[in-house]
Amino acid sequence: MAVFSRILSLSALAASSAYLVSAGASGSGTTTRYWDCCKPSCAWNDKADVSSPVSVCDIDDNVLSDGADATSGCDSGTAYMCSDQSPWAVNSTMAYGFAAVSISGGSESSWCCACYELTFTSTAIAGKKMIVQATNTGGDLSSNQFDLAIPGGGVGIYNGCTDEWGAPSSGWGAQYGGISSNTCSTFPTALQSGCEWRFDWFEGADNPTVDFVQVTCPAALTAKTGCVRDGETPTGSSSASTMAEAATSAAASSVAASSDATSAAVSSAADANTYVATSSSAVAESAAATVESSSYVAPSFSVAAATSSYVAPISTSATAVASPSSTYYYDDEGECEL
Ligand SMILES: *[C@@H]1O[C@H](CO)[C@@H](O)[C@H](O)[C@H]1NC(C)=O
Repeated sequence: MAVFSRILSLSALAASSAYLVSAGASGSGTTTRYWDCCKPSCAWNDKADVSSPVSVCDIDDNVLSDGADATSGCDSGTAYMCSDQSPWAVNSTMAYGFAAVSISGGSESSWCCACYELTFTSTAIAGKKMIVQATNTGGDLSSNQFDLAIPGGGVGIYNGCTDEWGAPSSGWGAQYGGISSNTCSTFPTALQSGCEWRFDWFEGADNPTVDFVQVTCPAALTAKTGCVRDGETPTGSSSASTMAEAATSAAASSVAASSDATSAAVSSAADANTYVATSSSAVAESAAATVESSSYVAPSFSVAAATSSYVAPISTSATAVASPSSTYYYDDEGECEL
């Protein structure tokens, strides 16, 4: 569990070995879960060379402008973990989130605000992936441990959740591990979706093991923390696409679409939970493959059918997804025509 006040000793211990770590840490590790509402350690100044320390919030969950200097709410101060540093599903096999970490041979200077792609290697979610940004550490973490920040995951040693949200005196559920069944609807609204994530996308997995590799952070993660490591340019859209948003946006396009075939294709993509977003051509290609493999027939689609092998509802930007006028149509040569 993430512990803010043990960090001093951990930092002192690890500082001497920081030079051993090169960018691109990888290996096998373990996971746990926590949500203690405390200011995370990477929110302090000078933990690592970053654009700015991890954002923290006041007791009302509003971002603090002077958060780096603010004492943790778990130490009688004013700074708490912001609720939006919660996990979410990007699509059926990828989730994004945040974690307290301890990487073998490293220190906060090497991992604060770094991102790691975790591939779960045990439990029902084996094979699923999650990219986490390191926002915290903990003196009670083992080597290569990722303590996933999940509302309702247990407060661990320190509990800011009772002060901040009126949680029970030792947090929601067990102090370690948190709630054991889905009681997320009783949580503060701001924490409910992250809590629910544990019981849907994460399938209630209990501390699955992982293989991990350091990756460039997605902008959707750094947009929430405001923390980018020096020399890194976050990838993708800073808006946090989710499966639900993708389906909603596809449905909106579907309603607005003038072509029956486009509607069918959009629906087909939405049914398959296809990720509709960002600017990746690979995403567009895989979505197109989904469309091609669907068996819809569009008998009245004569004009487009004469010039196109398929109509891809996937556009090249999140904005364009919601705007039928900028939908791209792909012709036989695979070129784009508006
Ligand atoms: C899920 O999203 C990730 C990240 O954008 C992407 O790489 C992957 O191909 C997507 N998977 C599916 C099944 O859509």
